[in-house]
Amino acid sequence: MKLACLILALVAVSATAAPLRIPLSKRPLNFNQPTLSMDGLKMQQTVPERKEQMAKVMANGDIVINDYMNAQYYGSVTVGTPPQTFNVIFDTGSSNLWVPNKNKFLQHHNLYDHSKSSTYKKNGTVFKVQYGSGACSGVFSEDTVNMGGYNLKDYTFAEVDNTGGFGISYYVAKFDGILGMGWDSIVMGGDISPFHALVNSKQLEEPVFAFYLGNSKPGELVLGGVDKSHYTGDFHTVPLTSESYWEIALEDIKVSGSSVTSVRKAIVDSGTSLLAGPKAEVKALAAKVGAKPVLFGLTGEYTIDCNAAAPDLEVFINGQVYVLTKNDYVINEAGQCLFGMVGIDVPAPRGPLWILGDIFMRKYYVKFDFGNKQLGIANATTV
Ligand SMILES: *[C@@H]1O[C@H](CO)[C@@H](O)[C@H](O)[C@H]1NC(C)=O
Ligand SMILES: *[C@@H]1O[C@H](CO)[C@@H](O)[C@H](O)[C@H]1NC(C)=O
Repeated sequence: MKLACLILALVAVSATAAPLRIPLSKRPLNFNQPTLSMDGLKMQQTVPERKEQMAKVMANGDIVINDYMNAQYYGSVTVGTPPQTFNVIFDTGSSNLWVPNKNKFLQHHNLYDHSKSSTYKKNGTVFKVQYGSGACSGVFSEDTVNMGGYNLKDYTFAEVDNTGGFGISYYVAKFDGILGMGWDSIVMGGDISPFHALVNSKQLEEPVFAFYLGNSKPGELVLGGVDKSHYTGDFHTVPLTSESYWEIALEDIKVSGSSVTSVRKAIVDSGTSLLAGPKAEVKALAAKVGAKPVLFGLTGEYTIDCNAAAPDLEVFINGQVYVLTKNDYVINEAGQCLFGMVGIDVPAPRGPLWILGDIFMRKYYVKFDFGNKQLGIANATTV
């Protein structure tokens, strides 16, 4: 199976107290490549169901994994002593760390073996997460987790032996597990989030992290600071409206000067590849930009003519406008264009809301300011 080439990088370890960086690799979108037809098929069959369940899961305040397997960024962490390395998606839309263990079906992945770690401690409480198309489960364990060179001793994470919820998508996925970068209130199982644990360990220069999702080159997650070479101008700060996801107030979204939403809440989610909003609003918005529903609208996804002109999207947040041009919101893969927006109805109380995923985070460098409970948004550097 031909998968797009990947640049895998190891965690950079620095001897200084300067912010540490985790290189992020990107698995490019391949939604139309016949070589990934299994993946595509799986998505077509399960997306509606998955969306419903995902909305339900969000409503419960539990973990959410946004499983667009075909455009994910991931980086590496280690667990155990000596270190065992895993590629994880750093997901600001959830708050647990899990890595896979022994399951035969997971052979393509790096597997955690606690019997080979001298710092492993048994917990044994069952860990279970409901994903869109099934459950992912395992047990909690404690071990030393290393993120970007920082050790978290005795961190409670999950070792997962059942990833049924991912189906074939996980089989071909290049990541092994998920590392949630959200807040404690959405940690499953009552422990604190990995980043909070890192802050508590007092190893970070500043209690912040920032993502750079490279467009044609690897991205970077900085823990404990920001990387000045990855943004221009100043950060515009945006206070959080909830410490669960990284949730903020949304003033409006406009196309050609008129409002396309009545929803006033958004989350910035590195674990979602696209932008997402309420189905009816996304449908109307798609029509405005000339995007056409895939599979009679069953999947909530849209394609768009690569060559036709289309208006900008303007996202208004805390007195600033963040513009996404067609070039920003379309994913062009070998001459086929996917409109980078999907309809998802997230029920109350969490929703309705908009999800500003990687499409937004590629254009705008986002500083997740844990200490001040706010976001900083700047223009990402493009070259
Ligand atoms: C297992 O971990 C959970 C979550 O952190 C914790 O509440 C529980 O007390 C732990 N149980 C044991 C036996 O260590
Ligand atoms: C980003 O760049 C645009 C156009 O160059 C500018 O108008 C805007 O203020 C900048 N945004 C931020 C957040 O610096």
